[in-house]
Amino acid sequence: MAEETPRKTVEELRNIFDLTGRVAVVTGAGGTLGHALAKGLAVFGADVACWDIKTDIMNDIVADIEGLGRKATATAVNVTDDASVKGAMENVVKDFGKVNILVTTAGISGNRQPAETFDIDEWQRVMDVNVRGTMICCKYAGAEYIKQGGGGKIITIGSVRGFAGHPGGYAAYGTSKGAVHMLTKQLATEWAKYKINVNSIAPSIFWTPLTQQVRDDPAMVKIFMARIPLGRAAELDDFIGACVYLASAASDYVTGLILSVDGGAVAG
Ligand SMILES: NC(=O)c1ccc[n+]([C@@H]2O[C@H](COP(=O)([O-])OP(=O)(O)OC[C@H]3O[C@@H](n4cnc5c(N)ncnc54)[C@H](O)[C@@H]3O)[C@@H](O)[C@H]2O)c1
Repeated sequence: MAEETPRKTVEELRNIFDLTGRVAVVTGAGGTLGHALAKGLAVFGADVACWDIKTDIMNDIVADIEGLGRKATATAVNVTDDASVKGAMENVVKDFGKVNILVTTAGISGNRQPAETFDIDEWQRVMDVNVRGTMICCKYAGAEYIKQGGGGKIITIGSVRGFAGHPGGYAAYGTSKGAVHMLTKQLATEWAKYKINVNSIAPSIFWTPLTQQVRDDPAMVKIFMARIPLGRAAELDDFIGACVYLASAASDYVTGLILSVDGGAVAG
């Protein structure tokens, strides 16, 4: 008879989303989505190391996490700089003793432009933050997870633009998010042997400084809303369940998934 997998107790099942005792790193934590996700992880029990290129915008998130009775630090990190990320990861291990969860929220949209005249330095700037930056953070989290004996969660932030083109000048942003999706699948495959789960959340649009250019253009807003079956932009809290799921034991058998949280945009 085949050996049965040990089943969880009712108590273990009830706590399947619990992050108590876990240490998370959230990049872009001073930004809109990063703040929401860092706080969401802390609500479920995680301590959080907050990284952003700008330190002055992280006071509120540190206060929010500490207000929940969890530990938080704020560190200036440029995710495109290998040495900056390496040093920051070493400090997380010094400050918290370990790391279990990485969420790579740092990202930029760049200036949308027609592909035929796209400023190639601007194109590269978007690729650097969104792709190179994600890779560097994953590299040091993965190395630390392996050093710790395996296990660990990585959640990248992709986009609906990583699945589908758009007439509105997304040659840089869309390409970068397609690369983030593929990087997620690559790392999931490569690090499965270490029991590291690597997944991505792919949002549709929500209103932040990154999407101000769209929000300021009523015709663009109309185009975006027409593509979302649920008929509205996302709210920040729409992403927390997905993030906690991918950070917790609930998703231990899930890896390489690009989880659309997009009001049905990719389905329609
Ligand atoms: N807003 C949307 O509609 C939308 C849709 C899909 C995906 N996303 C993705 O969500 C993520 C967060 O976006 P947001 O809308 O909250 O934007 P945001 O501008 O509010 O936050 C982004 C944060 O990243 C930080 N950052 C930028 N470059 C950095 C660097 N080199 N090193 C470290 N930190 C850096 C910024 O300082 C900022 O705090 C991005 O990856 C974005 O592509 C956003």
